[in-house]
Amino acid sequence: MNHFELKGGELTCEDVPLAGIAEAVGTPVYVYSSATLERHYAVLRDALVGEGLGEPLIAYAVKANSNVAVLRTLARLGAGADVVSEGEMRRALAAGVPPERIVFSGVGKTRAEIAFALQAHVAEINVESEPELRLVDAVARELGQRADIAIRVNPDVEAGGHAKISTGKAENKFGVSLAEAERLYATAAGMAGVRPVGVACHIGSQIADLAPMEAAFRKLRALVERLRGEGLAVERLDLGGGLGVPYFNQPAPPSPDAYAAMIARVMAGLDGVQFAFEPGRMIAANAGVLVARVLHVNARPEGRRFLVLDAAMNDLLRPAMYDAWHDIRPVKPRPGAPVAYDVVGPICETGDTFTRDRALPALEPGDLVAFMTAGAYGAAMSSEYNSRPLAPEVLVKGADFAVVRPRPSYDDMLAREQGAPWL
Ligand code: LLP
Repeated sequence: MNHFELKGGELTCEDVPLAGIAEAVGTPVYVYSSATLERHYAVLRDALVGEGLGEPLIAYAVKANSNVAVLRTLARLGAGADVVSEGEMRRALAAGVPPERIVFSGVGKTRAEIAFALQAHVAEINVESEPELRLVDAVARELGQRADIAIRVNPDVEAGGHAKISTGKAENKFGVSLAEAERLYATAAGMAGVRPVGVACHIGSQIADLAPMEAAFRKLRALVERLRGEGLAVERLDLGGGLGVPYFNQPAPPSPDAYAAMIARVMAGLDGVQFAFEPGRMIAANAGVLVARVLHVNARPEGRRFLVLDAAMNDLLRPAMYDAWHDIRPVKPRPGAPVAYDVVGPICETGDTFTRDRALPALEPGDLVAFMTAGAYGAAMSSEYNSRPLAPEVLVKGADFAVVRPRPSYDDMLAREQGAPWL
């Protein structure tokens, strides 16, 4: 459930009409619902706690939506953060996420980023390879620290979903094999600069079926038991993120309740571990929309009808990159028969097509539309391609809204660059 609904014939976010935001802030604009963010976090936490999984560390995957106001909304509920760069770590800290609830993941952490994480005293660094383990050990020793680490396992399961976001197969760049994890864990236990506290996995994103997750989690549990059998302590089990969300034309993903019940089943009887999770999309996706204005309706005599918007692939990359489907809803729907549109942006390449032949209520220039389920991997993946300013971000709470990232001016954008001495 989310808080984007038709009220009085127009689409609102909580109690704020989207048209009012578009008027005040301009388009394209991202709009987020605080109540939806809060609800998604609570639904997941309640499901996990309800299954007797203890108090989990829910480390929201900052990459999904890294706006500091979004992070602060979640941090206030007790969320931690899963970060993959110093930039994300700084955002999480700026939003008030306590360092002891921050997990640092990613296959290519630099020495400087590792040092930053250690100086901030994050909860755990998820180590993805042996060279990285050696680097973390060395950096920690230089700083006179012992870093808490988890070994990220690549359980070699096929998670389904789009190949570009699948991470748990042996051929993907993430993590180490189960056998390698066992060896590295023991190696880590003997290192002065690291303390292995757990194992982690994350097999992909937009996962619509619990079976591959269950297969991966069973392998992880068995690994924990093997490690313990060797006398090694394992305190934390990080099960990653990846739970899918409904993108309207896709099969309904498993509910947080079903997800939690599956985990409770797989982990029954495994004592003394804190469970950690890294959900991104399931928290943020349906908590945000991208509002755009129709610039032109270009009906070709040969048949195709292009709906040209003022939003483009630089604002919402997912359709161009993954052929992703986003529901498109008119902000003030008109009555009448639906019309088939090719919905496109102004960028000069054919990939700047959000969808083809989509039946939508009739639209006219000046009308507003909302791309639904755009709160995750929307603004976070946007760019200034074609020198288009980044779309602003607005956070709604009840009847209030705040611009939490303003649209940069063209002067701001030009001021970031400088000349070369010979020019
Ligand atoms: N943890 C790790 C280590 C990850 O790599 C990811 C996502 C997550 C957690 C969060 O996964 P989620 O719960 O959001 O599925 N840009 C793509 C999605 C890329 C996901 C990358 N990793 C998209 O727009 O669909």
